Amino acid sequence: MSRVLVTRRLPGPALDRLRAHHDVDVWDGELPPDPDTLQRLVGPAEGLLCLITERVDADLLAAAPALRVIANYAVGADNIDLDAAAARGIPVGVTPGVLTDATADLAFALLLAAARRLVPGSDDVRAGRWRTWEPEGWLGRDVHGATLVVVGAGRIGDAVARRARGFDMDVIAVGRDGDLHAALRRADFVSLHVPLTAATRHLIDAAALAQLRPTAILVNTARGGVVDQDALAAALHDGRLAGAALDVTDPEPLPAAHPLLRAPNLLVVPHIGSATHATREQMTAMAVDNLLAGLAGRPLPHPAG
Ligand code: DGY
Repeated sequence: MSRVLVTRRLPGPALDRLRAHHDVDVWDGELPPDPDTLQRLVGPAEGLLCLITERVDADLLAAAPALRVIANYAVGADNIDLDAAAARGIPVGVTPGVLTDATADLAFALLLAAARRLVPGSDDVRAGRWRTWEPEGWLGRDVHGATLVVVGAGRIGDAVARRARGFDMDVIAVGRDGDLHAALRRADFVSLHVPLTAATRHLIDAAALAQLRPTAILVNTARGGVVDQDALAAALHDGRLAGAALDVTDPEPLPAAHPLLRAPNLLVVPHIGSATHATREQMTAMAVDNLLAGLAGRPLPHPAG
């Protein structure tokens, strides 16, 4: 029996499988443990099941001398210093595949909502500002026949492209070696699906945003750090971009006074790409599978990288 730290309550029954074999300590807070508390809690742990809200860096690993496996409750692992874990010989697992469709659905929901101005329309109705059917009211952008640039040619990008084709969109997929700026110049919509790495941090910077037409809409369900948020806020404020729909920001949440939150034509939701009951339960199951394998000294079924 090994000591396992789980950094939040998780949906679904899978943690019971972990409890059947190991001594499991689940952090019960509504908010993540702060870094000092996390360092203290992880001290005796041999297994760590953590979330994207936890920074797992060399300092945290140094506080966990017995740690033998890390299972991240996410497909991304940018919250974990993978080199530091590898240097300690600690395998890191993630939850790929199960959240592809949920995240693609959300990306498409954001695209449609931003294109057709669903949130301002709903807000106006609820606030009593809707007085009559208006020929010039709440005009949005056509989705059918428009060009969607999908940045990132992985599983989620492919799933978004499939949805877009079903909506009669033209899709341009830009992979690692593609000409991003040339594609952006042709975009009506852009959807981001790259992991956050040193190479993709601020991939969508002022120069990239300047390629877009003022009628274009940017959707980000990847990581907030992929977009230079100051440049995005400026483009929205100046009307150089028709809108942005974000599931992710940097940091999360953004401080209430952040200039991006005051930008016009911004739709922002609280990082809910994978937030369906079924998906989150499957993520719990995969994270538990990773932990059980790592603690038994077996290769992880879903390794990071
Ligand atoms: C991930 O899995 O990386 C998501 O962003 C969280 O569900």
